[in-house]
Amino acid sequence: MHYFDLKDGVLHAEGVSLETLAASVGTPTYVYSSATLRRHYGLLREACDAHKSALGEALIAFAVKANSNLSVLATLAKLGCGADTVSEGEIRRALAVGIPGERIIFSGVGKTDAELAFAIEQGVRQINVESSAELDRLIAVAAEKSASPAIAIRVNPKIGAGGHAKITTGGAGDKFGVPVEEAMALYARASAAPHVTPVGLACHIGSQITDLAPLEAAFRVLRQMTEDLRAEGHSVTRLDLGGGLGVPYYGEAATPAPAEYVAMAARVLDGLNVEAAFEPGRLMAANAGVLLSRVIQVNERTDGRRFLVLDAAMNDLMRPALYDAFHDLKPVRPVAGEALPYDVVGPVCETGDTFARDRDLPPLKAGDLVVFMSAGAYGAVMSGEYNTRPLAAEALVDGDRSAVIRPRPTYDEMFAREPMADWLQT
Ligand code: LLP
Repeated sequence: MHYFDLKDGVLHAEGVSLETLAASVGTPTYVYSSATLRRHYGLLREACDAHKSALGEALIAFAVKANSNLSVLATLAKLGCGADTVSEGEIRRALAVGIPGERIIFSGVGKTDAELAFAIEQGVRQINVESSAELDRLIAVAAEKSASPAIAIRVNPKIGAGGHAKITTGGAGDKFGVPVEEAMALYARASAAPHVTPVGLACHIGSQITDLAPLEAAFRVLRQMTEDLRAEGHSVTRLDLGGGLGVPYYGEAATPAPAEYVAMAARVLDGLNVEAAFEPGRLMAANAGVLLSRVIQVNERTDGRRFLVLDAAMNDLMRPALYDAFHDLKPVRPVAGEALPYDVVGPVCETGDTFARDRDLPPLKAGDLVVFMSAGAYGAVMSGEYNTRPLAAEALVDGDRSAVIRPRPTYDEMFAREPMADWLQT
C-alpha cells in the first residue's frame, strides 16, 4: 500500500506532482511519501498493540540500513518508532533525530571496540552479540567503563530465507549469529560474566521473505531456547524477532499482511511472557519511495533491440545489478500506444547497468519521466558516485508539501572531498 497515484493524468506523490518535482529538483531523485511511512508503522503498531498479552510492549525498531535519510528517520521517530542499527554512524543518525537510546538496538556481525564503547556510552537498549569473540571484546570494553550493558545473543537457527541468496542470513553457512547449541553455551557464559547483562535472544533469517513458514520456524526455535534457558535458571525477558518480511514488488503477488505476520509471532510466543522486538526495514520503507528518472533517449537498433536509456543508473539503484531485483517502471504521464519490449538501462559503462530486459512498456521517448516503484528501501542508501555521477537527490513529500532532504551534490562539493596530495599541488 502506498500513496503514489495518478491525479489529473500525472503521477503524484500524495498531493505533489512528480512532474513539478522533477522540474524543480531535477532527476534522478528519490521521492518518499510520509503518509506511506506513517501508514506502515501504524499497521505494525496496531498489530503489536492488539497482541500485547503475547508480545508485551513490543518495540518496532526500523532497520536504519534500509533508508537512513535523517528526514525519513525523523518522520518515524515522531511516531515513537525505534531503530535497529549496525554501525556507530547509524546510532548517531537515530540519536540525531531524537530516537532515545532505550529504543535503539545495536546489531551487526563486526562491531569494532570503538563502536561498542560508543553504544554503551549512549545507553542503547541492547547490543545483539553475534559471536563468542565479540562477547569477549564487549566484556573487556564494558569493564573499562564499569558498565554492564544489556545484550541479546543472536541465534543462527540454520533456517535461511529471503528473496535472493545474497540477502539470506539465517542459513547454516551464513556469517550471522551462532548456532543453537553454541548460543545456549554463550548465554550461560554471559550470565556468569561480569559487565554484560543477557536479557534475551535475537534472530534475523533473511530479507524479502514472502512466506511466513520459515519465520515461524525460526520463532519456534527462539521459544524453545527460551524455555530451555529458563529451565537452566537463566533470565530471558526479550526476544528480538528481526525483520525480513517481504513487500509486493510485482504488484499483485501476495505477501503476508503485517497483521498476519505479527499475529503469527504472537501465536508462537503466547504465554512466554517476553517483550518482543521487530526490526522491519523493507516493509516500512520500500513502497514509501520511488526513484524518479528522465529518459535520455531511446536507442532503436537495426537488430531489433530497443534500449530505454535513463538518467538513473546502477550507481543510483543497485538492486537490479546486485540481486537481479525487479522494480516496476511507470511513466509519470501515462503514454498511449501498444506496449513494446525495452531493455531499460542507465548510462554507466558496464552491462550490469541494466534495470530490466525485455520489459513491456508503452512507447516512451526522450524527455519522458518515469519512476521505479518500491525504491524507498535499499535504494539511496546503497548508491554511490561511480562514473563520477553525483548522488541522486532525495525529496520528502507530506501532503501538499515537499522538501529536498538531500540535495544533489555539485561537482565542486564532490571534488572538495578529495584534497590533492600536497606534492601534487603545484
Ligand atoms: N535486522 C537485521 C539484523 C538485518 O540484518 C536486516 C537486514 C534487517 C533487520 C531488516 O531487514 P528487512 O526487514 O529490510 O528485510 N540490500 C538488500 C537487503 C539487505 C538486508 C540486510 N539485513 C536488498 O536490497 O534487498
